[in-house]
Amino acid sequence: MAEDFNVTLNEAQYYTPDTECKKNSWLGDYEKRYQEFLADPDAYWEAIARELDWFSEWNQVKTWNYPHAEWFCGAATNITYNCLDRHVFNQRRNKVALMWRGEDEGEERVFTYKQLYQAVNRFANGLKKLGVGKGDRVCIYMPVVPEQIIAMLACARIGAVHTVVFGGFGVNALHQRITGVGAKVVITADIGVRRGKAITLKNIVEEAVVNAPSVERIVILRRDDPKIELHSEMEIDYHDLIKGASSECEPEAMDAEDILFILYTSGTTGSPKGIVHTCGGYMVGAYYTAKYIFDIKDNDVYWCTADPGWITGHTYGVYGPLLTGATSLITETTPDYPHPGIWWSLIEEYGITVFYTAPTAIRMFMRTGEEWPNRYDLSSLRVLGSVGEPLNPEAFEWYYRVIGKERCPIVDTWWQTETGMHMITTPIGEPMRPGFAGRPIPGVIADVVDQGGNSVPPGQGGLLVIREPWPSMMRTVYGDEERYARYWNTIPGCYTTADLAVKGDDGYIMVIGRTDDLIIVAGHNIGTAEVESALVSHASVAEAAVIGIPDPLKGNLIKAFVILIDGKEPSEKLKNELVYHVRMTLGPIAIPSSIEFVDSLPKTRSGKIMRRVLKAIELGMDPGDISTLED
Ligand code: PRX
Repeated sequence: MAEDFNVTLNEAQYYTPDTECKKNSWLGDYEKRYQEFLADPDAYWEAIARELDWFSEWNQVKTWNYPHAEWFCGAATNITYNCLDRHVFNQRRNKVALMWRGEDEGEERVFTYKQLYQAVNRFANGLKKLGVGKGDRVCIYMPVVPEQIIAMLACARIGAVHTVVFGGFGVNALHQRITGVGAKVVITADIGVRRGKAITLKNIVEEAVVNAPSVERIVILRRDDPKIELHSEMEIDYHDLIKGASSECEPEAMDAEDILFILYTSGTTGSPKGIVHTCGGYMVGAYYTAKYIFDIKDNDVYWCTADPGWITGHTYGVYGPLLTGATSLITETTPDYPHPGIWWSLIEEYGITVFYTAPTAIRMFMRTGEEWPNRYDLSSLRVLGSVGEPLNPEAFEWYYRVIGKERCPIVDTWWQTETGMHMITTPIGEPMRPGFAGRPIPGVIADVVDQGGNSVPPGQGGLLVIREPWPSMMRTVYGDEERYARYWNTIPGCYTTADLAVKGDDGYIMVIGRTDDLIIVAGHNIGTAEVESALVSHASVAEAAVIGIPDPLKGNLIKAFVILIDGKEPSEKLKNELVYHVRMTLGPIAIPSSIEFVDSLPKTRSGKIMRRVLKAIELGMDPGDISTLED
């Protein structure tokens, strides 16, 4: 743990963008704001919450019964009222809320705030017709189309809890999430589109709802021609459901602490964790950071490239921008299809001013070369964002120079599904330190500590923790209180992020990676245990261990070590079969990039696989303390 990171620290170089952007920014001076927060944290958050509309006010800003916090206690609101109604009934009625782009040129759909409001209300009324009401869980398994967002907002409108499942997940992953929340309705589409090909989703849903007794109805958006047949016992067409539905639907008055959504994230065991976020606190966190960290103004055109199936898409693709009344773009595109200039062409075409993406995409673009972005006019850009994994200095430099033309500040935002909102970054106008996400945002107290919760000196590696509750913190792990408590009782008095980090003399934090068995592949969390259990569910596999191998493009790749059952012989064919099996059970994001057949695995005497030892051997490094190794 006491690793020394002085080399990196000494080589640090600051980039200072034009300070004009800070003068005009919503956040203003970071230090001043941070001190304002420290002086009275509850008053700070209360002032932010007052910028939004509530049906009735809180009687207390926060209660903190370790490890349970409640925020805006006793208040009532509806997040869709703040995302839609307040814009529709104020000056943004005809402002564009959402622009969607498909893969083909000209494939575009545009919704003004009024049109989005009406579409959400119609679908909300449709859901009501199916008997969905407050507190019911609804699973949304869709490609990135406007209806995906409309479905999320429609659930929120009537107080139903949405669980969005990334459209790239396979049957088991979807089944686990549907049954985990006990979804009453599943909303899906017949197909998604990727690289010119139709990817069928409906057959995955058909398999995933077997032995999922909670599911009463499946709503299907039919995009393909000719339209697929529906099985009328369970399935209903999206458009049939909203036929004749009113475009007015009263927003349900939600208690600030009612559940808004459950979003699954990988854990260190085979079953993913259903992270619970609430209506009031999450709304305030999403609004605050979209406005004050991205600095979204009324004339901005914003694009977050994340799929709403991930937390980044929830907070900064859907709720954050709508809460601020922004115009935002969503796309069902792949960064290099039909050519590696597609994203830059969209920035030019839509005049994007605030752009949010992941380091893995930036590194891919670095490979395809500057000539691609250089073909397009990127002068509309004002703020660049990064999320999901460390933005390494080379990628920072490229992003800053080639995309931002040395004009645009980069906000490298560190946060998690569990935190709901940005936690650590370098606000615009502050000196940027490549490789370092930055400092905790005003409203957040973060630190780098040892196992006992004591701050470690600058330059020394430690555990990244958050010291005080914040409004958009997860409230629990759905149905697993003990797993929730672990976040707060692993390190005394702190919320543990399970990230390893180091702090510079200037207080800037560099996030180095995970301390647990999560592998971050292309910015997505994959649990080793999830992949291992998928492998072991194959009839030929006796045991499996999975590790992450550093990769210059994707951050990490998955490598699997597999012990076959007696009588099965290793072969290339079997490798392909196993990869296919993981693809079908978990989805393409979780497939191992290499598989090695082995006779044994390093284990502790208690039988736990020592992945750390496998990794050290694989990377030719010292395996460290192996005193607990069985053999
Ligand atoms: O390890 C950190 C990494 O992603 C983890 C959270 O993953 P997830 O819940 O899927 O949310 C991703 C999007 C918020 C963190 O524990 N991570 C996220 N952002 C950064 C990061 N690592 C370094 N720098 C970041 N900016």
